[in-house]
Amino acid sequence: MAWIWTALTGILFLYVIQELLTQIFKKKKKQPPSPNGLPILGHLHLIGKNPHQDLNRLSQKHGPIMYIRFGSVPTYVLSSPAGAELILKTHDAVFASRPPHEASKYICHEQRNITFGRYGPYWRDMRKLCTLELLSGHKISQFQAMRKSEIGLFVLSLKESAEKHETVDVSKRVAGLSADMVCLMVFGRKYEDKDFDENGFKAVVTETLELGAVLNLGEYFPVLGLLDVQGLTRRMKRLGKIFDVFLEKIIDDHVEKKQEKKQTLDFVDTMMGIMASGKAGFEFDRRHVKAVLVDMIVAGMDTSATVIEWAMSELIRHPQVMKKLQKELETVVGLDHMVEESHLESLGYLEMVVKETMRIHPVAPLLLPHESMEDCVIDGYHIPKNSRVIVNTYAIGRDPKVWPNPEKFSPDRFLDNNVDMKGRDFRLLPFGSGRRGCPGMQLGLIVVRLVIAQLVHCFDWELPDGMLASDLDMEDHFGSVTCRNTHLLANPTYRLQK
Ligand code: HEM
Repeated sequence: MAWIWTALTGILFLYVIQELLTQIFKKKKKQPPSPNGLPILGHLHLIGKNPHQDLNRLSQKHGPIMYIRFGSVPTYVLSSPAGAELILKTHDAVFASRPPHEASKYICHEQRNITFGRYGPYWRDMRKLCTLELLSGHKISQFQAMRKSEIGLFVLSLKESAEKHETVDVSKRVAGLSADMVCLMVFGRKYEDKDFDENGFKAVVTETLELGAVLNLGEYFPVLGLLDVQGLTRRMKRLGKIFDVFLEKIIDDHVEKKQEKKQTLDFVDTMMGIMASGKAGFEFDRRHVKAVLVDMIVAGMDTSATVIEWAMSELIRHPQVMKKLQKELETVVGLDHMVEESHLESLGYLEMVVKETMRIHPVAPLLLPHESMEDCVIDGYHIPKNSRVIVNTYAIGRDPKVWPNPEKFSPDRFLDNNVDMKGRDFRLLPFGSGRRGCPGMQLGLIVVRLVIAQLVHCFDWELPDGMLASDLDMEDHFGSVTCRNTHLLANPTYRLQK
């Protein structure tokens, strides 16, 4: 026991010295405002289970560029469109890296994935390859028939529930649809829960997402990481092994069946083809393929499903908005047809509903953390190399200086303006922007628009058991993907004339 006390006293001593040096250094260079912190902890005690909301509250008091310290990690929080633009556009090249990330170290082969890849030639080449080969408009359109068939089955099963007057777990059903569509694109087949391991496919992906966002004390206090006091490293290593066994088996299956003619190559076929041909032009073996496959499943599955879940929650709470969207669908599509992807371009109000949903419920409210690769001055403030930088899009989306009446769900606010959601307008950044902006945006938007349109066109929706709209729990649950705190339950009534 004595050695633990000696070690802790040593660490405390080092932190006090570090703190003093930081204070001396800070006096020389202008630092952004900062809340009062504690020795060692920094500002960790001010952050609870919904960090986007806590940081929003703090920035309302301390300003849109704020300095906080998580243990030993200096962090800068930007909460205004102008600040976001400085990080994601003006100085994009400086802030395009990601901090070390333990989950992705164990699950994605030493951060060889895109999402948490450190900025450098490997990350650039891999991102370019995935953008061209997996997420291009051409590749996405190859899966159009698959989406039509899966969404058709989904509507059919909801219609059955409607006929039986069943209450539907909208969150669960939409998550299942999204998982099926992602698996068909990535692996060429659906996976039942039991196919993955004894924990189930969805549970393993959910745990990976959870570990990706959990407050990992080891990242802020290296010594706690060594001791693995939260047991996270153990869980990450276990998940890494489960994914590895699963992906190895899938890759082997694909290699064995290589000769079979397929109409559309799934992502595993495409990646293995590139590996065999050597056309990647950089080190590219099974480890890299597996890391990117995890990215595609984890980044693709829950993001779109969560946007749909939030949109349906808001539409059910706002029947007049739902009616207006149904009117648009009746005009463009007609009550004797289901929605097709070709209709999406003509559905202007649907676009506004999607924008408004993502303004008020951004799926990644703090984007993913960025890291500075060199010292930089932002709005007169000094941000040193290797600092963590967070853009709080939740705060931007709810800032009354940016959005009049920000708490109100009102798609019509986008009527007379050209606010873009694809990273060109820093008031609305659901996909981030710049070098690290989401490469799956086009795919995500097609799925989100199509599924919302279909759900609203094919069904009327009501809350169960006479529940009032004002009773619906709209609390967030922060994570890699910030979803509803409770599942959305509702009763559908089929409304098409076919
Ligand atoms: C509506 C659905 C989606 C939303 C709202 C969304 C949002 C985001 C956001 C906010 C980021 C972080 C940007 C930053 O840190 O600055 C991101 C990154 C990323 N997204 Fe998406 N995403 C969606 C769908 C998808 C899909 C379908 C895929 C692929 C199948 C995907 C793949 C990725 C990847 C690989 C990154 C990391 C990019 C990098 O670090 O270079 N996303 N996404």
